[in-house]
Amino acid sequence: MDDDHFRQLLDGFNFSWVGYRKVRKGVKKRIARHMQELNCPNIKVYLDLLNKSAELRQECEKQMTVSISRFFRDRQLWRDLEKDVLPRMIETEKKTLRVWSAGCARGEEVYSFKIVWDRLKENYAQFPEIEIAATDMHPDYIEKARAGIYSKSSMKEIPLEARGHYFDIKKSGNRFDIKAVYKQGIDWTVRDIFSNPPGSEFDIIFLRNNLLTYYKEHIKAEGLKRVIKALVPDGWLIVGSHEKIPAAISNMQRHNSIPWAYRKDV
Ligand SMILES: C[S@@+](CC[C@H](N)C(=O)[O-])C[C@H]1O[C@@H](n2cnc3c(N)ncnc32)[C@H](O)[C@@H]1O
Repeated sequence: MDDDHFRQLLDGFNFSWVGYRKVRKGVKKRIARHMQELNCPNIKVYLDLLNKSAELRQECEKQMTVSISRFFRDRQLWRDLEKDVLPRMIETEKKTLRVWSAGCARGEEVYSFKIVWDRLKENYAQFPEIEIAATDMHPDYIEKARAGIYSKSSMKEIPLEARGHYFDIKKSGNRFDIKAVYKQGIDWTVRDIFSNPPGSEFDIIFLRNNLLTYYKEHIKAEGLKRVIKALVPDGWLIVGSHEKIPAAISNMQRHNSIPWAYRKDV
């Protein structure tokens, strides 16, 4: 598929040409396979088919989705959370803190949070309850996240000797089942970032490596406004290490030393 045709496809979903730069090759291959399965001789026939069938359009969107994740992706971010952002949240002395992982893929981000949270608990006499909403637009990712079974590719950031703390290791070290204790208190739901959020008054929202990378600017701003609205005043928005929120969003302030953490104005 040439770049012009790929651009047409991206435009149809409001996806960004620049955002897809690094993953273009792999996504093009998946689309070529989809076209072949449907016996489409060219992109025009394919686009016509997508226009006629919501189901095929959905399947194409799935093929366009980048879902790669891993535990403690952007290691420094998790260190910053553990040392700075989460202690500040805990020190507000709220009884319950609310967390939303928006576009959580197969759950690595959510369980990474749970692991850090449990580790922090040991340092405090009084510790808040936690409520976690985890959402993704693709039902099978949510199912996988709920099951909590991973392969080595999700483990890169976790040293070999630490893996047994968090996972039951099976199949001679090739399968990692998240321990039951980390599965508690997570509400997994299928939900699009552009639909209603899974609640309101979140103290911290993770919005990493999805809306801000893969969508066109105008759509990005629309989705972002919805997400920010679901934060409490003073609440935190955590983005990916290569992401930043558009300058036009004026009610969020970037942390002075943690570039991927933004705080909502009071
Ligand atoms: C690259 S993964 C990122 C996972 C995790 N947040 C991380 O940073 O490791 C992107 C995920 O966002 C989800 N996603 C993309 N657009 C979405 C939307 N509009 N609504 C809900 N989920 C979306 C995709 O289905 C995919 O699972």
